[in-house]
Amino acid sequence: MIIPQGKILHVPEIGSTQDELARWVRSGNRSIVGIRADYQTAGRGRFGRSWLSPPGEALALSLALYSYANWKQPQLLGMSVALAAARALDLLLQWPNDLVLETPDGIRKAGGVLAEMVPSGKDRVPLIGIGINLTVRRFPPELPSATSLALAGRDAPTPERAEKLILSALSEVPDPTTWSDLSGLWGARDRTPGKRYLYYNTPREAIGIDDEGQLLLSTEDGVVSVPSAEAWYGERSGTPDA
Ligand code: BTN
Repeated sequence: MIIPQGKILHVPEIGSTQDELARWVRSGNRSIVGIRADYQTAGRGRFGRSWLSPPGEALALSLALYSYANWKQPQLLGMSVALAAARALDLLLQWPNDLVLETPDGIRKAGGVLAEMVPSGKDRVPLIGIGINLTVRRFPPELPSATSLALAGRDAPTPERAEKLILSALSEVPDPTTWSDLSGLWGARDRTPGKRYLYYNTPREAIGIDDEGQLLLSTEDGVVSVPSAEAWYGERSGTPDA
């Protein structure tokens, strides 16, 4: 992929890097292509969940991928960035954008990617937010399956170093025109099968990912392919919920 060319702002504290960068994108000022914050007070995750980024302990980075404006497969862009982050920090992946680790207690979520399209004049610009728990040591009780690299016993880079590693890894990931562009690299790190997702409010087990990059779920009517699904945070251990 083409790595964002331009200035990546670094700020000590912000509401959400995603929201702030969206303001820059909407304004049409393309001089800032990314924002990284040491601390987010109002970080956002998928499905409107809040996202914790404790001061200095997590990567909170948003990138505006201007080279991919109006990209026909925005979901694949989010998956490409998740793949780059996984390769950069040696993490595993769960569809669509979760960055996970295998721990003695099961699979735990160490990060995630939020992909959004933001209008800028006539264009729609992909805004990709990356949140990774690096040295976070404590999570609130409502996130029992969250982890960090440090908690999993891994050497955690600083947020600044993590940003550099991810940007470099991005340049090695193919442009995602079709799922087949990513599937080989993704498959090597994929832990989607067995994860449960909500389908019509019922938790269903994932079989894998289909040829279009959509999720394959097992239902009583057979296997269905879905473009979007929320992970289910059930009682079974091993299901990440951060
Ligand atoms: C997920 O729900 O798994 C995605 C989490 C994405 C969080 C990142 S942190 C940087 C950027 N700013 C935000 O407010 N959210 C994203």
